[in-house]
Amino acid sequence: MAQQVIAPARSISGGIAIPGDKSISHRLAIFASLAEGPSEIRNYSPAADCRSTLECLRRLGVAVQSGEKGRRRKDPAQDPGNTPRVEIQGTGLHGWRKPRRTLDAENSGTSIRLLTGALAGQSFPSKITGDASLRGRPMGRVIEPLTQMGAHIHAHEGGFAPLEITGAPLHGIDYTLPVASAQVKSAVLLAGLFAEGATAVTEPVRTRDHTEIALAEFGASVRRTGNRIEVAGGPRLEGRQMIVPGDLSSAVFFMAAASILPDSKLRLLGVGLNPSRSAVLDFLVQMGASIRVTELAVESGELGGVVEVTSGRTVALRGGKIAGADVPRMIDELPALAAMGTYTEQGVEIRDARELRVKESDRIAVLAENLRRLGASVEEFEDGLRVAGRAETHGAGLRGAEVDPRGDHRLAMALAVAALGARGETRIRGAECVAVSYPSFFQDLNSVAQR
Ligand code: S3P
Repeated sequence: MAQQVIAPARSISGGIAIPGDKSISHRLAIFASLAEGPSEIRNYSPAADCRSTLECLRRLGVAVQSGEKGRRRKDPAQDPGNTPRVEIQGTGLHGWRKPRRTLDAENSGTSIRLLTGALAGQSFPSKITGDASLRGRPMGRVIEPLTQMGAHIHAHEGGFAPLEITGAPLHGIDYTLPVASAQVKSAVLLAGLFAEGATAVTEPVRTRDHTEIALAEFGASVRRTGNRIEVAGGPRLEGRQMIVPGDLSSAVFFMAAASILPDSKLRLLGVGLNPSRSAVLDFLVQMGASIRVTELAVESGELGGVVEVTSGRTVALRGGKIAGADVPRMIDELPALAAMGTYTEQGVEIRDARELRVKESDRIAVLAENLRRLGASVEEFEDGLRVAGRAETHGAGLRGAEVDPRGDHRLAMALAVAALGARGETRIRGAECVAVSYPSFFQDLNSVAQR
């Protein structure tokens, strides 16, 4: 599937079971590997990124079995036996073994940053790297606090992977994050498990708290006071049976599609709704989207539920602006929201989002370039972008074109959403990159897109 053709759709209707959350899956696999005894993780994310984490754990001598029993059913919460399941034999906190080969995080920022935190506290040396995109992403942000804890990490010039980590005894620190990053917070907390004393991280604004939740589920002592999180070193983690909710950052593409097309009626099953991730729902509602959440339940410490999205005969989305503390709370949803811009009255503006430039691609530049190819009117800023709405473009709308998401999974999916309401077909180059987070995205999209 080098190229994916997206034909326009009239509306979106039907139901989708959203695959397991990528962020949570990484964390559960890593903590399970450090726990004592077996763990079972159900609805583990099918994302290539999460496979990279499992592969790294195998190279560290952890017994990991993964497999899908049968086909994924419509509702994983109702039928957990038939969803991707991972079994991990925990080695205990000090049971990882020196890897014989370099660990490869491939495209996954979460894998490299979280694992670096845990590797920093080992008694053996290791080396971790990734693909060309990952080798261009900043690692100084994890190296800095880990070095303060006593770690020895040698990076490629400029603070990039490959990272060579010489295991060293660590001590706890009290660290204030200079950038709001759940990956950096998690790397420091993970290193904190191996450190002497307590390790604390203060975040400038709240970021996703899956690490804190999962650590507590596995039995670690985690305390949050305001924006400060503290873990005690040397906990005894215990193997668990865990279930992963569906990935809200994957679900958002369908929410966007159902909101920009008229007469839509969509039911998304088993969606993770952790409050540190769900700001996008409020934003969509503020824009005028019609969203209803039902069947709320907490499993393995994480909130989840069913999300229903409907639209009327005519679409009347207002548009809006995302800035400040809302940015980290919606960081992975911003491409989908930008893709909606042309379909709103006032457009969509994103500011204070410089971080988008150091994701799997420079998401500001690549989005601006490709939305323009589809005929959108886009203003690019150093810290964001603004996609003009109908009021300015006089309802000119988008037209199908050839687009290139530059290997960035979320951009491929965002452009697919924008293309659904365009005149004529759109071709997405290198569309197979969706497998990084959502391998069955195009099948699922085709199953609900009414043409
Ligand atoms: C993630 C945190 C975010 C997010 C990424 C996943 C995580 O990155 O964009 O997709 O799992 O902790 P940053 O920590 O760089 O903000």
